Amino acid sequence: MKPTMITDIKSFAIKPDRHNLVVVKVETDKGISGIGCATFQFRPLAVQCIVDEYLKPLLVGRDANQIEDLWHVMTVNAYWRNGPVINNAISGVDMALWDIKGKQADMPLYQLLGGKARTAIPAYTHAVANDLDTLYGEIDKFLAEGYRHIRCQLGFYGGNATKMVTPKQPIEGTYFDQNEYMNTTLKMFEAIANKYGDSFQMLHDVHERLFPNQAVQFAKKAEKYNLFFLEDILPPDQNEWLAQIRSQTSTPIATGELFNNPMEWKKLVMERQLDYMRAHVSQIGGITPALKLAHVCDAMGVRMAWHTPSDITPIGLAVNTHLNIHLHNAAIQENIDVPENTQKIFKNIPAPEKGYFYPIDRPGIGVDFLEGMADEFPVEYRPHEWTQSRIPDGTLITP
Ligand code: GCO
Ligand code: MG
Repeated sequence: MKPTMITDIKSFAIKPDRHNLVVVKVETDKGISGIGCATFQFRPLAVQCIVDEYLKPLLVGRDANQIEDLWHVMTVNAYWRNGPVINNAISGVDMALWDIKGKQADMPLYQLLGGKARTAIPAYTHAVANDLDTLYGEIDKFLAEGYRHIRCQLGFYGGNATKMVTPKQPIEGTYFDQNEYMNTTLKMFEAIANKYGDSFQMLHDVHERLFPNQAVQFAKKAEKYNLFFLEDILPPDQNEWLAQIRSQTSTPIATGELFNNPMEWKKLVMERQLDYMRAHVSQIGGITPALKLAHVCDAMGVRMAWHTPSDITPIGLAVNTHLNIHLHNAAIQENIDVPENTQKIFKNIPAPEKGYFYPIDRPGIGVDFLEGMADEFPVEYRPHEWTQSRIPDGTLITP
């Protein structure tokens, strides 16, 4: 195969709606270009700097065909590796290279990887409200749209504290109360189970807000509600406690959106300490490492539930769809409807139909980015108050 020389690499940091997004474009001497998602919404300019100042001079003039080698070149070029900024930058290039290869082969990414493992991938979405009646309205809406898996949350992560007592002159932050959160959430599970029976399966995201002993108690009490999965019951640095949770309850465990380094998941997967892997493809460095992770998980009976939040580009959403159609151990696809302006600057955005994502039958990743509109949506600094999450005495807790 003749070389496909990389002639330019461009990055775009944009904020079409609530989140900062990062897109990478790779151009070649054959007039074929590709795009990738490099979105780290909290540090978009840092990712853009890595792409523009380091990956571009490293890669221009190299052969875009050699994705596997280029991924390794990018990953070790700075010696220190596997952090969120550098992995997102690498992901942007890696996805773009796969996009180019698919366009050259005139095949959608899932076909390039080996074709379908299923007709369509089930989708789940987020029902969130401050009270049960409003939450029921959200659930009814999504049931009518065809969803049979719905993430249910009362309040933001950690719940809405109503009885909290803080010391005088509390430190600035976003406060929550772990006990009130656990009690309210268990009551929510009970109320939804009583009202809806088995008409859909609940999911819930603890979002790393509990101490380990609380996590064990909470997972045990949640068991009877037959959740599809309970997500991020612990922060990654406490995942050794999953062994205690697994030995005391069958509540399905999902975690991984915060993983950047293979050292964070190797032992967990080899010891089957989780049921669903929630890795975020751009946070682990792109499609190339995602395939390797999925195959290790497949061998160990761990299923894939790629993190697909609101802070991802439609390119990343489409990559997850391709992976989920192809991989035999893909389980479910998270979905949050793409907001208005994002729909203006990206075209051919995948969307679920009656609770399923279907194969994307366009060459490569299959999404188009209208780069000429980028200047209309400049990137913007956000303080992210919500990650300054504190319990009543003021202790900062992982967000
Ligand atoms: C999820 C995630 C998101 C994250 C967000 C962080 O399960 O979808 O927890 O909601 O909080 O991606 O920016
Ligand atoms: Mg999550």
